[in-house]
Amino acid sequence: KYEKLWLIASLVLIVGFISTIVFGAVGAGVKMVDDSGGQVNASGLSDHPEFKDPGVRKVGSNEYEVYVVAQQFIFNPETIEVPANSNVTFYVTSRDVIHGFEVVGTNANTMAVPGEVSKITVQFDEPGEHGIVCNEYCGGAHHDMEGKLIVR
Ligand code: CUA
Repeated sequence: KYEKLWLIASLVLIVGFISTIVFGAVGAGVKMVDDSGGQVNASGLSDHPEFKDPGVRKVGSNEYEVYVVAQQFIFNPETIEVPANSNVTFYVTSRDVIHGFEVVGTNANTMAVPGEVSKITVQFDEPGEHGIVCNEYCGGAHHDMEGKLIVR
């Protein structure tokens, strides 16, 4: 009697393992298709066409938008220039893995997540230069991943 129970139990386990493997393979296949599609494929990137040409856009008298794409191991654009006394909204996403986006010496600090867009608004009153650093470990050259923000 017990033998039958054990047989059923192990059959259930085997079926479980097989479906795990099958679904795992399908999942991996889908991901590979996405990656091989090339550049602007993550939804965060395609939702905002501005990410195809990242950089600074003037949207009002003192209002600017900056689109930033992070990827191993650079920010695009690497150098951002905005005038002093401006209100700057950053839209940040990633092309590959999770990165950080921190404008040193300001409260601009967010994550850059593939498929998502982080939005932060910062007011820049004083002219000056700020380093931009990636503060999420993202691979071998993580510590070299940096940019610059110039307030003129
Ligand atoms: Cu990108 Cu650390």
